[in-house]
Amino acid sequence: MCGIVGYVGEKQARDVVVEGLRLLEYRGYDSAGIALVAGGELGQTVLVSDKRAGKLANLEKAIAEDALPAATTGIGHTRWATHGAPNDVNAHPHLGPQRRVAVVHNGILENFARLRDELERAGHDLLSETDTEVAAHLIENEVLAGADLTTAMQNVCRRLEGAFTLVAIDAHDPSRVVAARRNSPLVVGLGVGENFIGSDVAAFIEHTREALELGQDQVVTITRDAVAVSDFDGNEAQGRQYHVDWDLAAAEKDGYDWFMRKEIFEQPRAIADALLGRHDENGQLQLDEVRISDDELRDIDKIVIIACGTSNYAAMVAKYAIEHWTRIPCEIELSHEFRYRDPILTRNTLVVAISQSGETADTLMAIRHAKKQKAKVLAICNTNGSTIPRESDAVIYTHAGPEIGVASTKGFLTQLVACYLLGLYLAQVRGTKYGDEIAAVVGELAAMSDRVQQVLDDADRVYALAERFKDTTSVLFIGRHAGFPVALEGALKLKELAYIHAEGFAAGELKHGPIALIEPGLPVFCVVPPRGRDQLHDKMISAIQEIRARGALTIVLAEADDDEVTPYADVFIPLPTVPTLLQPLVATVPLQLFACELATLMGHDVDQPRNLAKSVTVE
Ligand code: F6R
Repeated sequence: MCGIVGYVGEKQARDVVVEGLRLLEYRGYDSAGIALVAGGELGQTVLVSDKRAGKLANLEKAIAEDALPAATTGIGHTRWATHGAPNDVNAHPHLGPQRRVAVVHNGILENFARLRDELERAGHDLLSETDTEVAAHLIENEVLAGADLTTAMQNVCRRLEGAFTLVAIDAHDPSRVVAARRNSPLVVGLGVGENFIGSDVAAFIEHTREALELGQDQVVTITRDAVAVSDFDGNEAQGRQYHVDWDLAAAEKDGYDWFMRKEIFEQPRAIADALLGRHDENGQLQLDEVRISDDELRDIDKIVIIACGTSNYAAMVAKYAIEHWTRIPCEIELSHEFRYRDPILTRNTLVVAISQSGETADTLMAIRHAKKQKAKVLAICNTNGSTIPRESDAVIYTHAGPEIGVASTKGFLTQLVACYLLGLYLAQVRGTKYGDEIAAVVGELAAMSDRVQQVLDDADRVYALAERFKDTTSVLFIGRHAGFPVALEGALKLKELAYIHAEGFAAGELKHGPIALIEPGLPVFCVVPPRGRDQLHDKMISAIQEIRARGALTIVLAEADDDEVTPYADVFIPLPTVPTLLQPLVATVPLQLFACELATLMGHDVDQPRNLAKSVTVE
C-alpha cells in the first residue's frame, strides 16, 4: 500500500530517496516524507526530516525551497492512509520523542492501541493518529537503553502484531539502515559501495538490478558494504538473491502521457512475453514452473480460483475456459470472502491465486488458509519475488513487466494468458483434449498479440467516443459468457478513473431488474460474442434490441463483419475474429482505452486515481 525507500552509500541520500519515492508513488500518494542522518552543528550526527500531505511534488517543492543538508543515509515514504487522515502530522517518517530514531512503515499494527496506551502511561506524548509512531517510540526506547538499531528492531518486532514493513535509522549511527517485514513487501537492492531498501525493486532499479528477497518475519541491516539478515530473535537468516529482468526504461513513461496508456499499448508485447518459452512449435505446452507433479495434477478433483478486483474478473474468464477444457469443477471466490465461509478444501483441491502485485493481503491470507487445509496452491502473479508466489506451491509468472498505472491493464491481459495456459496444460496432462485441439488453441493464443495490436491501431475511434461522452454521468456494460467479466472490467475501469456511475451486467440478467435503469440516451457498451457460438450470439442481440427499444444508446463491440448486430448498433467498435473463450483479450482493450481517455478529458489523474493504491497490502 505505501511505498518505502531506504539508502546507505556514497551518493546524496536525499536524491536517491526522492527518486525512489517517485517510482513508488503509484503505491500511495496521500503524503510523502523523508528523513536523513546528517552532520550536526557540534560534529555529531542528527536526524533531519520533512514530510508533506499530498503528492510527492509537495515534498519536492518543500525541500527545494529549504534544502536538506548533505547526507548519505536516509529513508523515505509515500503513504496510502490507514490510521489517521492524510495530513502533514500523520505523514511518515515518524520520529521518537528525542529525535533519535526515525521510522517509516507500510501495513497495519493491529495491537497499536494497546502499545500506545502503554507508552502514554509511561509519559510518552504521541503527536499523530498513526500506528507507526508507536513503533518509532518503542524502537527509540530500545536504542536509548543501549541496544544497537538492529537489536532494537528485533526486540520491537517480537511485540508487534499485524502486517508491517518497518524501516528505521538512528541519528547516532549513520552507517546503517534497518528494516523488518511481516506480511508486507520488502526487498533489498544490492549495490557496490551502497545498498538499498524498497517496497519493490522500482525503488532502486536505476542503481542496481541485483535484489535480495526477504522471508517472513525477518530483519535486514544494510550498510555500505554489507547486508545482514536475521529473524526476529536475532538468529542469522538468508534471503534469496535474484536478478531483475527489467530496467528503468520499463518503469518510465516513454513519451506517453500516462503510465496506464503506455501499459495498454504494451499489451501485444506483454502477451507475447507471457507465452514465451511455454509451448513448442507443435503446440505442446511446457510449464516448468508448475512444480506440482503430473500425477498430482491428475488427482485434482476441484479448482478454486481466488482473487480481488480486476484479477477476479480474470478468474471468472478462467472458470469458463478451465471447465470447458478440463471438465474439472471450478469455483471462483473473492479472496476476502473465501476464508470466512469455511470452504471445502482437500488435498485434491487446486487453489489458484491470481494477483498482479503478489502482495494483496486478502489473497495472501486466503492462500495461507488453503495451505492449512492441505490444498495445493498455485499463484498466477506478475511480481517476481513477491509474497504470494513465494508462499505458494507453484507459480506461473505473467511476465507483463512493471505495471505502474494504478488501474490494471496489461496485468489483466497477461493473467488471462496465464489462466488459458494453465487450463490447456491441465487438459494436456489429464488427456481431456487431444493434442491437436490443444495445439489449435495455442496457435490462436500465439496470434493474439497481433489481434490486440489491431484493436490498438483503431484507438482513435474509441477516443472520439470518449470525447462524445465526456459529460456523461452513467454508463452500463453488458456481456454474456466470457463477455460478462469483460463488462464488469469495463465498468470497474470507468469507476476507478472517471469517478462516474458504471455498472456491468450479465446481459441475461437485465430483464430481471437492471433494465429499469435504461433511459433514453444512456450509453450501454454491449460485448457481443463471436458468431461461432450461435445461441450466445443471438441471445446477446435480443438483449441489445430490448435496451435499444427503451432508448439506450448502444455501443456494440463485435466481430468486424458481424452484420447481424450492426443494425442495432448506434456506435460500432469492430473486433478481430477470435474464439469465444479468448475474446476477452481483444474486447477488454477498447474499454481500457475509453476509460483512460475519458478520465484524461475530465482532467483526472489517470495513474493515481483518488482513494486508490496499486497494491492493497491491508485486509
Ligand atoms: C483494478 C485493480 C484492482 C486490482 C486488485 C487486485 O484496476 O487494479 O482491482 O486488480 O486490487 O490486485 P492484485 O492483482 O495485485 O492482487
